[in-house]
Amino acid sequence: MKKLTVCSLALVVALSLGGRSRAAAQDPDLGVAAREGVVVSSSDLASDIGAAVLTRGGTAVDAAVATAFAMAVTYPSAGNIGGGGFMIVRTADGSATTFDYREKAPGKSTPGMYLDAKGDIDRELTRAGYLAPGVPGTVRGMALAHGRFGKLPWKDVVMPAALLARDGFAVSESLAAGLNREVAGSMKAFKGSVAAYAKPDGTAWKAGDRIVLGDLAKTLTAIANEGPDVFYRGWIAALIDKNMAANGGLITMADMAAYEAKERPAIHGSFLGYNIISMPPPSSGGVALVEMLNMLEAMDIQKLPRLSTEAIHVTTEARRRAFLDRARFLGDSDFFNVPVGNLISKPHAREQIASISRTMASSSAELGKDIVTMPLPEPEETTHFSVVDRSGMAVSNTYTLEGGFGSHVVIPGTGFLLNNEMGDFNKKPGTTNLTGDIGTPANVIEPGKRMLSSMTPVIVARAGKLVLVTGSPGGRTIINTSLDVVLGVTAWGLTGREAVDAPRMHHQWLPDRLSIEADGIPDATLEALKAMGHDVRMGGRQGSAQSIWVHPNTGLIYGVPDMRSPDAKASRKE
Ligand code: DON
Repeated sequence: MKKLTVCSLALVVALSLGGRSRAAAQDPDLGVAAREGVVVSSSDLASDIGAAVLTRGGTAVDAAVATAFAMAVTYPSAGNIGGGGFMIVRTADGSATTFDYREKAPGKSTPGMYLDAKGDIDRELTRAGYLAPGVPGTVRGMALAHGRFGKLPWKDVVMPAALLARDGFAVSESLAAGLNREVAGSMKAFKGSVAAYAKPDGTAWKAGDRIVLGDLAKTLTAIANEGPDVFYRGWIAALIDKNMAANGGLITMADMAAYEAKERPAIHGSFLGYNIISMPPPSSGGVALVEMLNMLEAMDIQKLPRLSTEAIHVTTEARRRAFLDRARFLGDSDFFNVPVGNLISKPHAREQIASISRTMASSSAELGKDIVTMPLPEPEETTHFSVVDRSGMAVSNTYTLEGGFGSHVVIPGTGFLLNNEMGDFNKKPGTTNLTGDIGTPANVIEPGKRMLSSMTPVIVARAGKLVLVTGSPGGRTIINTSLDVVLGVTAWGLTGREAVDAPRMHHQWLPDRLSIEADGIPDATLEALKAMGHDVRMGGRQGSAQSIWVHPNTGLIYGVPDMRSPDAKASRKE
């Protein structure tokens, strides 16, 4: 252990001295070639820590756990130990499994807890503060996955993050900007958060400044040395309990002790001869992705030119219908009987496409009129990373605090941010409206239930061989970002690099609107879509798909960082 800790320390020192080598080994056409394994994340420092774990002989899961803990330090808007997420693991022999470490509703939560006296949703309560968090799952999830597939000791995969927090690291330009916004804005109301993240001399952070996260280092060191129980049953849980009680929050020591992560069978689909492996409920991502691919296969999407009016039209109609099913049927399958088998079946796709016209947009309100009860954008923070090791084991991991910096609450003495994931529940039972609120029973708040997610980590294989590892942040846009990257590689034969760079689109049933990334399509296509009846908006950026792609001819693995995230990096095993 000692030797490895020294090794971790050396790595941390090298990184914090500005050792950011994003350009190394980049092949601008394909990505970072990596025969021995690669980690791709939105944080260059965390990718390097994950890759160092591969170099020391760790598995893809060891590297994923190290990356996840490192991102809790380097990427506090979404990297976390106070949130939750999903991990898919595909081993070299082709078998796959998933780990669900989604947050759970505290025991004292109730279906109407976010409604004000007039019965309207009080969105501030789920945006920030002590009522917003679900019981965090990341630490248990990492321990569960590590117990199944890790080779290095737990301490050795957690400690690099603790050392990075203790010794500090140089903040990037985007982290400096994010922290300055937070400290002067949403965090201001929470003293513990400002104490953790404000620059000690009171001035604004600048790129290159060294940030030291002392309390977070203490927390991570305890987790490294004592394992996940210190978080769920020890002093960390006790501090959460005490501060929640003092500030009107709900999470108790009993909630923390009762939290469990779960290994669940993956969702499997097939599309044009490819095997699609994704996340089951409480994520809606895998079900919706496979539904969309089934519809598109039945409509011969691969025969339509990519980005043609017709291809965009039929993919929009598929997106619309999968999101309607999501609103009707998706929630935590431990609490609600989600008809997964039917939803991802080919006959269901054939029924769904019967209502699709090739020339006219359909109306979302009309299609779902039985659940729409009367006439928002999603926050943009979550993070996805992908890992492949030398054996071919692949990890696709998406985790989140929900909004950027979660609930903005750091429990004093712990150094980590708590999520605001409770907002992903249906907050007003019975009200499903044209602006995108959903009030169907599947995802109504119940104690111990996990809130529905859109996170869509995915792994694609063909004839037993790995093809693609991808996923993204972006709220409900996540499902569509994963779809677009998968379609690029499978239906249209793009390289991973091309598929990640390609323009992305989003339609989520309601609001009935198609968004396309800035400069995504020519004006003529835009006008043609409008003429078909689509309400199309162009602009902005969608998601951040940190991906790994395997060249179909050479079998070479390429890390494909999505540069929509400025600090993204693919780091190879050396
Ligand atoms: O689980 C979900 O679907 C959301 N909480 C994810 C939030 C998100 O992706 C925000 N930003 N990128």
